[in-house]
Amino acid sequence: MSSMSPRHFLDIADLDPQTLRHLLGVARDLKAGNVLPGQSDQPLRGKALAMLFEKPSTRTRVSFEVAMTQLGGHAVLLEGGGSQLARGETFADTARVLSRYVDAIMIRTTGDERLREVADNATVPVINGLTDWSHPCQILADIQTIEQHRGPIAGKTVAWSGDANNVTNSWIQAAARLDFALRIACPPQLSPAPQILQWVADNAADVSVTAEPGTAVAGADAVVTDTWVSMGDDAGESRHNLLAPYAVDRQLMAAAKPDAVFLHCLPAHRGEEVSAEVMDGPQSVVWDEAENRLHAQKAILAWCFECV
Ligand code: CP
Repeated sequence: MSSMSPRHFLDIADLDPQTLRHLLGVARDLKAGNVLPGQSDQPLRGKALAMLFEKPSTRTRVSFEVAMTQLGGHAVLLEGGGSQLARGETFADTARVLSRYVDAIMIRTTGDERLREVADNATVPVINGLTDWSHPCQILADIQTIEQHRGPIAGKTVAWSGDANNVTNSWIQAAARLDFALRIACPPQLSPAPQILQWVADNAADVSVTAEPGTAVAGADAVVTDTWVSMGDDAGESRHNLLAPYAVDRQLMAAAKPDAVFLHCLPAHRGEEVSAEVMDGPQSVVWDEAENRLHAQKAILAWCFECV
């Protein structure tokens, strides 16, 4: 690394608006096939990324590995159960050891404190590949997707309908940093945590929470939902009953702007949080959203490696 303090990508809230706009611009340029200014087409040649997964993944795992390969580097997969973490080696020691082998670490884990323990003890950049608290890589790709289809996010309204989960937390942080409105509809029992609502107040974010999905979605530019049972949640019947009124179907989409886009970070459960008609319909941009994970991840890697 060229500096003493590695560039970690841990949370949207940790980054200023200029850095986020820069990352979105890099992701857009890379998607267009452009070479990064002042770099070869393989700026990460010889670099290695450790990918540490304590939870399942399809998109995050594959997009990071392909991103590293296409940028000239390579990725090493470590699954929690297959590493010494499963036998009690600490996250701090794991971070210290990995830092002697690789040039960056991407981790998907449970508690945010595990991510922070890795970041505090690594001497290389650490990337949050999802925790129970947030999913910042996803939101960068999501905003790239909205801008691809509907132009600049600033001034737009994004509606979230469903469980207020880790992805919602990253949406909340992004609303404050990138100057758009976020309308969250969720059952009061599954509302955003007091800690993030306090952050909303402290940061004067244009974020509101309602129990009425139609109110949240009215006039929105984008409608977003996620699985009702996040990794680690109990999949009880009562949870499904609470969330049933928040399912995104044709009727709810009709409350948004006529050209509103539908996003879902995937994996999706047709017939639960989203109807098949919406998921596979003309307003759905979920496959572009999934593709953009690759471009956004490349931008994050290039930034962490100080290539941009
Ligand atoms: N959206 C997302 O993070 O997908 P994976 O769990 O498959 O990585």
